[in-house]
Amino acid sequence: MARRKKLYEGKAKILYEGPEPGTLVQYFKDDATAFNAEKRDVIEGKGVLNNRLSEFFMDGLSAIGVPTHFIRRLNMREQLVRSVEIIPLEVIVRNRAAGSLCKRLGIPEGEALPRPIVEFCFKNDDLGDPLVSEEHIIAFGWASQQDLDDMVSLALRVNDFMSGVMLAVGIRLVDFKIEIGRVWEGDFQRLVVADEISPDSCRLWDIRTGEKLDKDVFRQDLGNLADAYTEVARRLGVLPNNTTQMTKPHLIN
Ligand code: TMP
Ligand code: ASP
Repeated sequence: MARRKKLYEGKAKILYEGPEPGTLVQYFKDDATAFNAEKRDVIEGKGVLNNRLSEFFMDGLSAIGVPTHFIRRLNMREQLVRSVEIIPLEVIVRNRAAGSLCKRLGIPEGEALPRPIVEFCFKNDDLGDPLVSEEHIIAFGWASQQDLDDMVSLALRVNDFMSGVMLAVGIRLVDFKIEIGRVWEGDFQRLVVADEISPDSCRLWDIRTGEKLDKDVFRQDLGNLADAYTEVARRLGVLPNNTTQMTKPHLIN
């Protein structure tokens, strides 16, 4: 059997050529990185959890009419997705102050924001994904004004959906990052949610205790990352079992 072609390897995922034109296979690794890969580790079971969680969120978004690149999950670590032209921007939506917003503006962590704030960062590891304004985006041709309007609207729909899903299981969606891609249909383009939606790219706090259940557990050395993601998956009914049991055989005493 011919070896499939690796098209791109990122920090947490690998993209392979898909079985049909216009498709890709997205493979979720166990690697965790933070601070532009200055901090790194391998968290057993993280890829399996993020594959399942991203499937769950993308399926839910499709069900309410938000277009995504997701086609179907193939196995524990892989999903079939549509090949899209990724817009080189990270689209961040914030409901509460956390992370770089606190650092930049001196706002205390956890403060409720008067309305959801949408930010754009230019996807460039060498530059550390800097925050950019709509002026930069249009001037440098990364997206048009129409794209920007569509991206904000998509991001806010994702925010409403994700906030509701999380609230129902006692979790506050503090902020998240999505990536958006273009799909061409003849001469027309459509924007779709791409990449992944998982606790790697969201901030999720337990509403009652404030416990962090996202990648900040790794960034800030707060405990076991796989346990935090397993808790999110368990509450959402996505993964009732312990994932480490699925990735490694265990002796039963
Ligand atoms: P920030 O507060 O560090 O700017 O992060 C905002 C949101 O974006 C948070 O939910 C984490 C997510 N994020 C990523 O998904 N990838 C990244 O590289 C960074 C810096 C943040
Ligand atoms: N994903 C980024 C990195 O590895 C940063 C982060 O999520 O904190 O470097």
